Amino acid sequence: MPKISWDQFIARAEAFPGSAIPVRELVRLVHDLDITPALIDSHVSWSPETYQRIPLLRTDNVEALVLCWEDGQETVIHDHGPSCSVARVYSGTTKLENFRRNDRGEKKGFAKLEITETRNLGPGDACASDVGGIHSMGNHMGGKQRMITVNFYSPPLSKIQTFDRATGAIGEKVYPALLATL
Ligand SMILES: [Fe+2]
Repeated sequence: MPKISWDQFIARAEAFPGSAIPVRELVRLVHDLDITPALIDSHVSWSPETYQRIPLLRTDNVEALVLCWEDGQETVIHDHGPSCSVARVYSGTTKLENFRRNDRGEKKGFAKLEITETRNLGPGDACASDVGGIHSMGNHMGGKQRMITVNFYSPPLSKIQTFDRATGAIGEKVYPALLATL
């Protein structure tokens, strides 16, 4: 497996023209990246209140966060607005759920969501979500086990939609407040 350093990752990301790296290219970059303890460990932080999101990088065309999840912590259902994303597991196992809308916007402010996929991803595994992709992720490992993921977004985060799991009510958040829901 080819590996590139963090500095090489940044240089290759910045070499893409414009503000959006296509999701297929972002997947390749993240797959090739050597995610080392030296890169991650100084960014690790935990809270019993909610999972922690620690900024790692924000350039003209890519953003990266270190996410630290205590057992039982999970996102709300959300998209990333105009950004695509790739999440890579550093340690632990994450449960990912992908959704699609099963409505045509008949009821303003609400969405009917259907689960299309549930996956468990382990260390080194990655998942991608193209622009408009709706998903949730979380740590459901049990036994008070912790999980760390590194999540990448292009263009950098700007605004997102959230979806209430019970009612389908749609919310909107803008950067940086949206970081609380990723
Ligand atoms: Fe997400």
